[in-house]
Amino acid sequence: MNLAVNARDAMPNGGVLTIRTENAARDDAYANSQLQDEAENYAILIVSDNGHGMGKETQDRIFEPFFTTKEAGKGTGLGLATVYGIVKQHGGTITCESQPGEGTTFRVYLPVGEMESDRDTATPLAQPFLGTETILLVDDEDPVRDLGKKILAQSGYTVITAANGKEALEIYQEKRELVSLIILDWIMPEMGGKQFLEEIRDIDPKARVLVVSGLQSGGTAAITREHGARGFVGKPYNVREFLKSVREILDEDD
Ligand SMILES: Nc1ncnc2c1ncn2[C@@H]1O[C@H](COP(=O)(O)OP(=O)(O)O)[C@@H](O)[C@H]1O
Ligand SMILES: [Mg+2]
Repeated sequence: MNLAVNARDAMPNGGVLTIRTENAARDDAYANSQLQDEAENYAILIVSDNGHGMGKETQDRIFEPFFTTKEAGKGTGLGLATVYGIVKQHGGTITCESQPGEGTTFRVYLPVGEMESDRDTATPLAQPFLGTETILLVDDEDPVRDLGKKILAQSGYTVITAANGKEALEIYQEKRELVSLIILDWIMPEMGGKQFLEEIRDIDPKARVLVVSGLQSGGTAAITREHGARGFVGKPYNVREFLKSVREILDEDD
């Protein structure tokens, strides 16, 4: 962050900030001339700007604590001293190349560890639960409905929304062939979740409903199941758990 902030300051009228990474081996000539420690392989973080750059005298002092060329109140002179400390603590090196008017490139070399990766054994973090079905999302609160719609749409689903049970019933009667799942808030004006479940049972006993409710006390999960819901997710929900429940219910047999 400090490197990026300095790059911004060096380009007051705009410019290009480039952040990239590379691998380097110690036998790479440039790396070898810069490195003092023992590691064979390095990861390099390269931060470049095409700003005003700096001359040799400035460059010689940039890592000194409190060295700044910025006007009082703007610079503290601590950014690069902090970067230097962090890089050294990790057994790395930082280099700077710059010319007045030519921009600046910082390279942070970090030794690559020799530990074996545990990537294969760890559970994948973001196993996606995606789908292309159409879902009817029923919630009386606009922000909750918008968020749910966004999450589902990003996972591939087509989303139809309704603000209460009554509206949802009307939509369902019209678009029943399209809708594979109904996601239902429990407490809503006009018609709440419980009454909706009772009504939908007469219209289509096979309709799949996932109840999403902030009301988790008093065995709401059990009550919703007694009323024919296929699942229950408490609000506020964990996105992954939510998408998992959606996918599971869609994949259930009738
Ligand atoms: N990307 C850059 N381009 C030009 N000069 C830079 C750049 N990064 C750092 N400098 C110079 O190094 C000095 C010290 O930077 P830093 O330690 O972050 O303190 P500060 O940003 O508070 O001045 C800056 O005042 C500036 O002269
Ligand atoms: Mg700074």
